[in-house]
Amino acid sequence: MMLSIKQVYKTFNPGTVNEKKALSNLNLELEKGDFVTIIGGNGAGKSTMLNMIAGVYPIDRGSIILDGVDISRKPEHSRAWLLGRVFQDPMMGTASDMEIQENLAMAFRRGRRRGLGWGIKKDEKALYREKLRILDLGLEDRMTAKVGLLSGGQRQALTLLMATLQDPKLLLLDEHTAALDPKTAKKVLAITQEIVASKNLTAMMVTHNMKDAIAYGNRLIMMHEGRIIYDVAGEEKKNLKVADLLEKFETVSGEEFANDRMLLN
Ligand SMILES: Nc1ncnc2c1ncn2[C@@H]1O[C@H](COP(=O)(O)OP(=O)(O)OP(=O)(O)O)[C@@H](O)[C@H]1O
Ligand SMILES: [Mg+2]
Repeated sequence: MMLSIKQVYKTFNPGTVNEKKALSNLNLELEKGDFVTIIGGNGAGKSTMLNMIAGVYPIDRGSIILDGVDISRKPEHSRAWLLGRVFQDPMMGTASDMEIQENLAMAFRRGRRRGLGWGIKKDEKALYREKLRILDLGLEDRMTAKVGLLSGGQRQALTLLMATLQDPKLLLLDEHTAALDPKTAKKVLAITQEIVASKNLTAMMVTHNMKDAIAYGNRLIMMHEGRIIYDVAGEEKKNLKVADLLEKFETVSGEEFANDRMLLN
């Protein structure tokens, strides 16, 4: 098993008027190679789940085991090298003032900017060129261009490449295509699928797009009030329709599905 989340609880601002139970008895097990899509309404706990895995905040209770290692109480920096992360904001994953090849070299050295002092070797450049070619965005011919010049979609594709350069145990994607136009989003999703499949990565992808949640990955989970209320895989997942998901949500939660970003498409 690659990931095991057991009875995880997280309450923000406990004992205050702003108290918020973000995760409440969260349980999830992922096998190596699982590509799970995650849907749920606003505030369901999707981002919090990913943040807890990454160690952004400590969990209140429970355990998180990644590839046999208990990371529940490890600080964020000591788990970072096990994980790849891509966020919604294309500005977040890359350094604008640095070249494409320098960004890749940083990822290759797992964020140690200092390591760049010796320069980027020829065979390393060849490796980056080959990786960039897979994106099919023409970036292999612009390796010395500053990342700040790239479009949002190009930056997300590059961030994805950087996040997976060193084969993370788990790839965490939090609405990483939500800020892109539909055509670019589709392209970045195709790249995501290609990278996950070719490296047999284990991945979790939050999306507000139910069609994408059905189309990508081998498993789909739905969250509500800090826990998983629906978990489906294989053929059953493939055959789902958006209407099935909405109905499922309404049956289990007794509420109407509400996600502000979902209403936009
Ligand atoms: N750092 C924080 N401090 C306080 N409350 C937080 C924090 N992070 C999340 N929350 C709260 O925890 C709950 C879950 O938030 P989370 O961001 O995980 O939801 P989400 O499912 O990702 O929603 P969305 O679809 O809007 O991104 C929300 O009520 C949110 O306000
Ligand atoms: Mg979120």
